[in-house]
Amino acid sequence: MNIVKHKSEIVDLLQELKSKGKTIGFVPTMGALHRGHYELFRQAKKENDFLICSIFINPTQFSDAVEIDNYPKTLDQDIALLNKVKCDFLFIPEQKDLYSEQNIIEKSDLIDLNGLDLTLEGEVRPDHFKGVVFIVKTFFDIINADRAYFGKKDFQQLVIIKHMVNELNLNVQVIGCETVRNENGLALSSRNAKLAEEEIIEASFIYMVLKECKQKLKSLTVEASSSWVLDQFKNHASLTCEYFKIVDSRTLQPVTSLHENKSVVGCIAVKINNVRLIDNLVLSD
Ligand code: PAJ
Repeated sequence: MNIVKHKSEIVDLLQELKSKGKTIGFVPTMGALHRGHYELFRQAKKENDFLICSIFINPTQFSDAVEIDNYPKTLDQDIALLNKVKCDFLFIPEQKDLYSEQNIIEKSDLIDLNGLDLTLEGEVRPDHFKGVVFIVKTFFDIINADRAYFGKKDFQQLVIIKHMVNELNLNVQVIGCETVRNENGLALSSRNAKLAEEEIIEASFIYMVLKECKQKLKSLTVEASSSWVLDQFKNHASLTCEYFKIVDSRTLQPVTSLHENKSVVGCIAVKINNVRLIDNLVLSD
C-alpha cells in the first residue's frame, strides 16, 4: 500500500491511473478502523480497479477540541487492516493541506442542504454536517473517484452526501453499504472502543428495540410505536435515549403514518456512560 501525505502527490498518482482508464473507489474515514469500515473497503476493492482510503479527523465536524483530542487514534492497526484488504492508497493529509485559515473558522456553507442538516443529529450537533460536507467535497475534488462508499450506519450523513453530489452535479457515484453489527446486533462504531465489555452487551438493547419497533408498527400507529420506543429507555439503568424519530428516508422529515411507496427509517441516538451511539433501521420500504 502506498501511503501518501501530500495532496499534490495523490492528485498526480490518481490522475495517471484515470488517464489509463482505471476506476477508483474511495472510502473516506477518520481512522480507528473496524469491521464496519472493512466491509466498505471490501466492496470498493471488488467494484473498482484501485482502492483509496483517507484517514483524517476532520476538525470542523466536531463541536469542541476535547472531542477531537479524545477521538481514538490507532494508525498502526489501521494500516494493518488496510493491508489485509489490499488497499492501494492510504491518504493521510495534514490539516493545512485541506483547510485555509479562513474556511476552518467559517465552516463554509457550500450548498443549501434543504434542512437535511437541521434535524436528527443536526439538532444536537449544530454545524456538524456543514463540516462533513466541506471535507467530503474537498476529498472528492482531490481524488476524483468513480465511486465513493459510505455506511448506512450514519444514515443522515449518507443522505446529505447524496444530496450534495446531486446539487453540485458531481461525477461520482455514492454507494451506501449495509450497517455491520456485532453478534448481539450492536452497530460497530469507533466509539464502541470507549465502552466496557458489559456496556457493549447492554448497548445491544438499542438494536433489539429498533427491531421490536418494526414489529409494533404492524399493529400500532407511528406515534404509538415511537412512544413505545421512548418508554423502553425511560427506566433503563444505563441507557438514555436522546432522540428517536421515524422519518421519511429521503427528506428526513418525521412521518405520521406509513404510506405505501414511501421508505421510512427509524433513527435513534442513545447515550451510555457519556458515549453517544447512533443507529437506525429501515421500518418500511
Ligand atoms: P467514520 O466515522 O470513520 O466512518 C467512515 C465510514 O464508515 C462512514 O461512511 C460510516 O458510515 C462507515 N461506518 C462506520 N461504522 C459502520 C458500520 N458499523 N457499518 C457500516 N459502515 C460503517 O463518517 C465519518 O468517518 C466522517 O464523517 C467522514 C465521512 C470520513 C467525513 O469526515
